[in-house]
Amino acid sequence: MGGVSEPLVLGIETSCDETGVGLVRGQTLLADAIASSVDEHARFGGVVPEVASRAHLEAMVPTLDRACETAGISLHDVDAIAVTSGPGLAGALLVGVAAAKALAIGLGKPLYGVNHLAAHVAVDQLEHGPLPDPCLALLVSGGHSSLLRVEDVTTTVEPLGATIDDAAGEAFDKVARLLGLPFPGGPHIDRAAASGSSVAIDFPRGLTGRRDLERHRFDFSFSGLKTAVARWVEAREAAGEPVPVADVAASFQEAVCDVLTRKAVDAAVTGGIDDILVGGGVAANSRLRVLTEERAARHGIRVRVPRPGLCTDNGAMVAALGAELVRRGRPPSSLDLPADSSLPVTQVLA
Ligand code: KG4
Ligand code: ZN
Repeated sequence: MGGVSEPLVLGIETSCDETGVGLVRGQTLLADAIASSVDEHARFGGVVPEVASRAHLEAMVPTLDRACETAGISLHDVDAIAVTSGPGLAGALLVGVAAAKALAIGLGKPLYGVNHLAAHVAVDQLEHGPLPDPCLALLVSGGHSSLLRVEDVTTTVEPLGATIDDAAGEAFDKVARLLGLPFPGGPHIDRAAASGSSVAIDFPRGLTGRRDLERHRFDFSFSGLKTAVARWVEAREAAGEPVPVADVAASFQEAVCDVLTRKAVDAAVTGGIDDILVGGGVAANSRLRVLTEERAARHGIRVRVPRPGLCTDNGAMVAALGAELVRRGRPPSSLDLPADSSLPVTQVLA
């Protein structure tokens, strides 16, 4: 791994509120520069698409420069450009795709428009080496919650289930808001939960009833849980009693992690898959990591979780998938590549 002869790939990510530029040679990470507009969205309690797009536009060139400087390369050294073409916020994606096209044309290098979800899977190769084949990916972030069977991350990503309403991270963010914690709420809930009891309140586990399992065995639902937390908090407030933030956080977090891990392990066992990969921003959750390990171990299943900086949106994940596409000789995208906000997960290369 890491020979100088391996292709050097630049990856650009702008699907949400992170402007990411990564540089990867083969499976070796050389640079992962990030500019985040998260602070600009905080007072709205969620990402504002127009604000994100403008921030990408302002951050693109400085972030590109920073990545090249860190890696000690010039843009002319790059062998291919990869960019997230979807799914994500349309205007935000457009900034990355336009920048990638300009670079591909200006430098005369091939362009790969890639799927954001497949990139979340591919990034783990930078940390833990080649992906097991097949592997079960549990992707949980502010924008997505899915269970995927991945055979070859450059061609075969099969969706087994997904959320039917809120994404897992979105539920963390909304519940944090209810509890008066800042945005994004996941890390704050995680921290508050550490001093609370996970069995203090018995919050509902979405889509785990016997009838739900018939139709939605590997799907998730978090909006009922969010409403249950809201009702519980309102009832306390109406009674003039203080809200035990740590207990609510811990019990809520347990409900989310219980369902995510139960379904991921069930999907792996059912599909005869020996490796689970957890990715996306929520993969940074301390309880999710522990519970996945614990439950998977009972079935002899291994768990891979990239370090938190590679779980949240970044450019390295796009470069990692781009490098794998180049390595496997996949044909590049056309230069009229669209930004596709609803690119299906089965389409790895746009
Ligand atoms: O992957 P990501 O950076 O962006 C999206 O594609 O959405 O994920 C961000 C999400 C947010 O909802 C945030 O609250 C959540 O990941 N998150 C966490 C933790 N750290 C980040 N959720 C639970 N526990 C955490 N420690
Ligand atoms: Zn993401």
